[in-house]
Amino acid sequence: MSERILVVDDERDIVEAIADILALEGYAVLKAYRGYDAVKTAVKEKPDLVILDVKMPIMDGMDTLHELRQKGFEKPVIIISGHGDVKTAVEAVRLGAFDFLEKPLSRNGLLIAVQNAVATAAEQAPIEPDAQDQIIGRDPAFIQCLRVAERIAPTTAPVLITGDTGTGKEIIARYIHGHSKRKKHFVEVNCAAIPDELIESELFGHVKGSFTGAISDKTGKFLAADGGTLFLDEIGDMSLKTQAKVLRAIQEKIIIPVGSNTPVSVNVRIISATNKDLAQEIEENRFREDLFYRLNVIELRMPSLSERKSDIPLMADHFAMASGKENGLKHVQLTEDAKGLLAKRDYPGNVRELKNLVERIVVISQKSSISMEDVKMILDNRFDIKDGEFLETSNLPVPPSPSEIDFFKINSLKEFRDRIERLFIIEKLKQTAFNISKTAEIMETPRSNLYKKLEQYDIDVKELEAYYGKQT
Ligand SMILES: Nc1ncnc2c1ncn2[C@@H]1O[C@H](COP(=O)(O)OP(=O)(O)OP(=O)(O)O)[C@@H](O)[C@H]1O
Ligand SMILES: [Mg+2]
Repeated sequence: MSERILVVDDERDIVEAIADILALEGYAVLKAYRGYDAVKTAVKEKPDLVILDVKMPIMDGMDTLHELRQKGFEKPVIIISGHGDVKTAVEAVRLGAFDFLEKPLSRNGLLIAVQNAVATAAEQAPIEPDAQDQIIGRDPAFIQCLRVAERIAPTTAPVLITGDTGTGKEIIARYIHGHSKRKKHFVEVNCAAIPDELIESELFGHVKGSFTGAISDKTGKFLAADGGTLFLDEIGDMSLKTQAKVLRAIQEKIIIPVGSNTPVSVNVRIISATNKDLAQEIEENRFREDLFYRLNVIELRMPSLSERKSDIPLMADHFAMASGKENGLKHVQLTEDAKGLLAKRDYPGNVRELKNLVERIVVISQKSSISMEDVKMILDNRFDIKDGEFLETSNLPVPPSPSEIDFFKINSLKEFRDRIERLFIIEKLKQTAFNISKTAEIMETPRSNLYKKLEQYDIDVKELEAYYGKQT
């Protein structure tokens, strides 16, 4: 074993004691007695793991953890806390520390935590990059969800994640997978985006020649997720026919590819998500009750942002920093009153809306310290885009309305129809705050059809949303 571990505590005796235990187990130990020294050493020496005391003078454990992450140090950090600061340690774990240990440390407890951290880091390295998406939140309503997620992660129990649009259903599904022992694959299927004729082959695969267009064998998502997690997103939009097949696959743990007679056994953990009220769907005979009970062994309801308002400033900071980084701006921060203003708004699109808004603010203002005035400017829409440059204008930019476009210059009926249809879809998307389910609903068309149209007309919902924001 040659993992290198950095031990940080202002009490030298403790550092020495931990170092001795670790050295005996064959780990290489680095030591620091102050937060800032720890950061310096971590950046320079790139240890595989940091063990960090919470209570230290000048720069405490939380600040050190924050600084380490800021500097791009992504390896696991184990927090050590005294009896009085367990709460802080728990918070540190929420903010991305791997684990925490309470003083007095036991030799076994320490070694187990270290082994877990090192093993997880090694296993996690190659998995999907999205899994590293940091999950942010300290509000009790959210912490409650994270606790449940962590507790159920190592089991194979199916989980049904419910909650409004943009509340983080997908990110928590990935989090559960990340904390499970199923390190293999996280395979996602968006049940609403796949047309009904194709979903069976998508889920169970098909053999060559089983239908027109099946030019070679195809592995379905169930098999692709064997040993891992299958995430059935927007499960409420799955047709009754497909529901019956999925139910069978889950019950019997076997799948039969389209056009084949040979059952294949699969071992997958199912996490499903929906923003529909499945009880209602069952009532109206659109969702099978037996499938519901199979999927809903554990229900995790994601709180909407209005139920966890205290997280808005924290998230705003995180999103500003992240989007600054993507745009070549270092250490982007929002002033307190800028965050205060953001916290006062409503976010019908929940975390996604907040994230998009903050990204817009960062991109448009191009500053590393964002003031309340900068936020106001974007909220009031006092800007315009010309030649790819953002300009502040005193007038609201009015998006072109259908009547302003000279439709009679168009000759072909098809082009006319397409142009109108495109505008119509964009308009409906705006009305629903870019919620695809709702848009499909008011347009009275299946979601899969809406997805097709979005592709056909090259409508990028995320981009539109970022441009218009949610002006509800
Ligand atoms: N706790 C969180 N910390 C950081 N980012 C978050 C958090 N929750 C959500 N996000 C971000 O917000 C966006 C929306 O999250 P996600 O896609 O998980 O929501 P959803 O509930 O699946 O939405 P939908 O119902 O529209 O499918 C993503 O960009 C995600 O990374
Ligand atoms: Mg989702």
